[in-house]
Parts: sequence; C-alpha cells; structure tokens
Amino acid sequence: MNKEILITGGAGYIGANIVDLLIKKKYKVVVIDNLSTGNKSLIHPDAIFYNVDISDKAKLEEIFRMHIIDTVIHLAALSSVGESAKKPKKYFKNNVKGGLNLLEAMVENECKKIIFSSSAAVYGNPQYVPINEDHPINPISIYGETKATFEEKLKLFDKQHDLKFLSLRYFNAGGSSDDNRFGEIHIPETHLIPSILKLAAKNREISIFGDDYDTKDGTCIRDYIHVVDIAEAHILGIEYLGNNAQSEMINLGTEKGYSVKEIINLCSKTLEKSVKSKIEPRRKGDPPILIASCGKAKKLLNWEHKKTIHHIIESAWKFEQKLSI
Ligand SMILES: NC(=O)c1ccc[n+]([C@@H]2O[C@H](COP(=O)([O-])OP(=O)(O)OC[C@H]3O[C@@H](n4cnc5c(N)ncnc54)[C@H](O)[C@@H]3O)[C@@H](O)[C@H]2O)c1
Repeated sequence: MNKEILITGGAGYIGANIVDLLIKKKYKVVVIDNLSTGNKSLIHPDAIFYNVDISDKAKLEEIFRMHIIDTVIHLAALSSVGESAKKPKKYFKNNVKGGLNLLEAMVENECKKIIFSSSAAVYGNPQYVPINEDHPINPISIYGETKATFEEKLKLFDKQHDLKFLSLRYFNAGGSSDDNRFGEIHIPETHLIPSILKLAAKNREISIFGDDYDTKDGTCIRDYIHVVDIAEAHILGIEYLGNNAQSEMINLGTEKGYSVKEIINLCSKTLEKSVKSKIEPRRKGDPPILIASCGKAKKLLNWEHKKTIHHIIESAWKFEQKLSI
C-alpha cells in the first residue's frame, strides 16, 4: 500500500509544491489547511483536502482516525516577520499552540513521525556564516521565536513519547513548480522576488529596507533556495524517518548569498527592463546576512540543491505571468 502523508498548510506556497511532488512519487496525500494565507488554486486536485484549522483538536482527531498516516509534514503557520511584531499573541497561538494540538493528536493516534517547517529565522543575527545547525538559537523576531519554541516542543515530545522529527530550517524559498502551476501567492506579498516581479511589471518602485548594513553593497544578503529543491528534501526526509533514524535539525539552503540589490539586478535581466527602487528605513527583525551551511543535509539525507538563482527567478516570473492572465 502507498504511504499516506498528512500535510498541514498544503494549500500554501511551499506546501502545494511538496504535495505536487509527493503525488508524482505516488504517495497518498491528505491536506489540512484553513486557507488563512493559503489559496484555493493551490489545492492539488489529487489530494484529499480538509478545510480545518489546526487549533480544532476534535477535527484533527477525526482525520487521524479516518486515515492511516505514516508521516506528518507540518507547514501550517503564520510567517510574516513584520506582522508577528505587531501581533505576537496571534503568532504564538497559531504557530505554537496550534502545533501542540497537532502533536497531541498525533501521539494519541500512534503517529510518531513528523517533518516540521522551521526557518533560518531561529538563528537571529548570525555570529558567523555560513550558519551551521550548531549555531546558537537566538531569534530576533517573534516569528523566529515561535519556530524556535516549537522546535523545543518537538524535543520534548521525542523525550516523552518517542516522537521522531526532522526540523527543516528553510532559508529563503523561491520559484515555482517545474510546470509553473504551483507558485508563490502571499497577500500582501512580502517576499522579495515576487514583490520585485509584481511591482516592476507595473513600472512601480520596489522598497529596499536599509542600505547601511555591514554587507558588500549595504543591503541584506539572503540564501535563496528553489521550492522544488525544498520539496525534494521532504521526500528524502520521509525515507530518513522511515529508517528508525534519530530526530534532527537540518538547514536547507544553497550556501550562497545574494544581496537585495543583486536580486533586483537579476530580476531586471529576466524582465528585460530596469527596475526602479527606493531606500526605506531598516525593518525590525531583519538580520544583515543569512547563508546556510548544508553539510548536514548532504550527510544525513543525501540532499543537495540542484537549482540556481536563475531557475528561481525565471520560474517565479513564469508563475507571475500565469497569475496575471
Ligand atoms: N517561504 C519561505 O521562504 C519560508 C522560509 C522558512 C520557513 N518557511 C515556513 O514554511 C511554511 C510554509 O510557508 P509558505 O511560504 O508556503 O507560507 P503560506 O502562507 O503560503 O503557507 C502556510 C499555509 O498554512 C495555512 N495555515 C496557517 N495557519 C493555519 C492553521 N492554524 N490551520 C490550518 N492551516 C493553517 C495557510 O492557510 C497556508 O496555506 C511556514 O511554516 C513557514 O513559516 C517558509
């Protein structure tokens, strides 16, 4: 029998890409999403979909009773750094309390394997780059704090209930599925690449938040990873947890960083037009530089990124063009 995988947040950007790859690999997929930031157009037609909030324990229990779930992939979360500073309670309730509900429903139903979508935001201002998994956890945003707190809950559930987890700390996701069907839709869009593409297409200016950071051109540097590469790591993660492996925290990135200005120039090449920009004050919670060290992903999962920044921008642009048709 094909394994049944439960994905929370499967109607969101990264979730939809993981669902798409799982279905291509012949897994049975059950999606739970409350569509708070997800999108109906990203629900895979071959997945079983439940419009459920992870805070609804009774519904979660019911779903676990109806399916024989092998592994849970938990993406459901609110993920805007800016909003998290303004609404910390909302973020802790959704990302930590909601996640705890899910863990409780899992152990009550003898489901003991989970892959969690963590983030580079758990590291805060890096003490060194590239950042490996031994780097101190010191988030500087509420969003990052919720991810770090949930990682601690996972460790507790491992100790108390033998629940095994992989916490995959994504750096900056970008791009769309190979057929450009599943891509980034955030309303409002806060992520750099789709923001540039959307605004530049309408000849509008893109805001650069701070150009006085201690980086090569003064703008923030990030490690951009293609969403299909992220999805592939989850497939390997399911296999890893299936082999009675230990719980681990693993970075997913490319070990290469690009500044905001460099990304604007690359987008400008793809769009074949100049992109207008303006400098605005720094945003709270933005570390100057985040670049992953990915040796652990290679060693434990035999995973390496395959797609370049050019693939990311091109596939993001193809998805944008489809959206605007
Ligand atoms: N996009 C990135 O670059 C990035 C980087 C690091 C980590 N992450 C993490 O990856 C995950 C997915 O990110 P994304 O960019 O696809 O975001 P997204 O907003 O597109 O997807 C999140 C999904 O979770 C759903 N959701 C949220 N709260 C829920 C709840 N209480 N119950 C049920 N469903 C709920 C939303 O409706 C949405 O479909 C998040 O956990 C995010 O923190 C993303």
